[in-house]
Amino acid sequence: MKRILTYGTFDLLHWGHIRLLRRARSLGDYLVVAASTEEFNAGKGKKTYHDFETRKNMLEAVRYVDLVIPEERWDQKIDDVRKYEIDAVVMGGDWEGDERFEILRPYCEVIYLDRTEGVSTTKIKQDLGEGA
Ligand code: CTP
Repeated sequence: MKRILTYGTFDLLHWGHIRLLRRARSLGDYLVVAASTEEFNAGKGKKTYHDFETRKNMLEAVRYVDLVIPEERWDQKIDDVRKYEIDAVVMGGDWEGDERFEILRPYCEVIYLDRTEGVSTTKIKQDLGEGA
């Protein structure tokens, strides 16, 4: 059984998220998603529309997702990989080469997938804000 882990905010769930989750799950047999908590986001100066519990519930309703855990700090990743016996951490291409994921290479595979063009939570918020 190959176990995959991915991290993200997943605020306004969109097609780019679903594609990422589907491809991540297809690389293994079990997908763990670490969703950022409000406190962790606040530390990054980021505010979500949906609270953690809501984003967790939404992600749990996605057929490619087997387990949702909280992402509470930058340095929890090695612990997560060990605790959930993860074989590969998968992230969108915007994170390619980022040291925060590259440090996991001694512990598991690190795989970056192409981002889906033209959609992001930020863009949706901007477009709706403009009355599009
Ligand atoms: N992702 C993707 N394609 C997109 C948007 C996101 O593959 N168009 C991936 C990211 O690379 C990440 C995961 O989905 O691995 C969660 O990303 P998240 O930051 O929650 O999504 P965004 O929509 O980019 O959010 P924001 O605009 O707030 O950065």
